[in-house]
Amino acid sequence: MRHDETFIPKAVRDMLDARRYPQQARYLVAAMEDVQAGFGYVPAEAASELARYFSLDEAKIAAWLRDASGAFRAQPLGRHVLRICQGPICRTRGGKAMMEEVRKVASGKSGLTVLASHCLGACDQAPIAKLDEERLSGHGDETISALVLTAISNINGEDGEP
Ligand code: FES
Repeated sequence: MRHDETFIPKAVRDMLDARRYPQQARYLVAAMEDVQAGFGYVPAEAASELARYFSLDEAKIAAWLRDASGAFRAQPLGRHVLRICQGPICRTRGGKAMMEEVRKVASGKSGLTVLASHCLGACDQAPIAKLDEERLSGHGDETISALVLTAISNINGEDGEP
């Protein structure tokens, strides 16, 4: 849904007024959580409004949005969400390289959001990824990277991309 350019800043101001956050930087995270809960992500216009309200540098908020922890998103989620475990076991067993490879492959693909994930609770099968609700782990001759890349390819096929 498209909104006019004043919709998001006004909605954020209304939320801040309703929540009565003191204009202190320590309330930024709570306010960002509210924004993300409302919009599903933190739009750039909302980040600007938060920066104004809390008298913070917009670059600081942009840095939070880029944070690999994935707590906040600067873009709405795609139709499919691929979570790649970046827990300590998975990272040392190839999860870090897989994240870099997948981000390159998935860059610019519509309908897919790639997120770093905390431990997915299956360390014995590391490295692990999860596409929507389906867990992907390497077994037999299939490596986890191949499974993930196949899953991305299938998504592209659904969306009519080559
Ligand atoms: S560290 Fe990846 S599943 Fe635990």
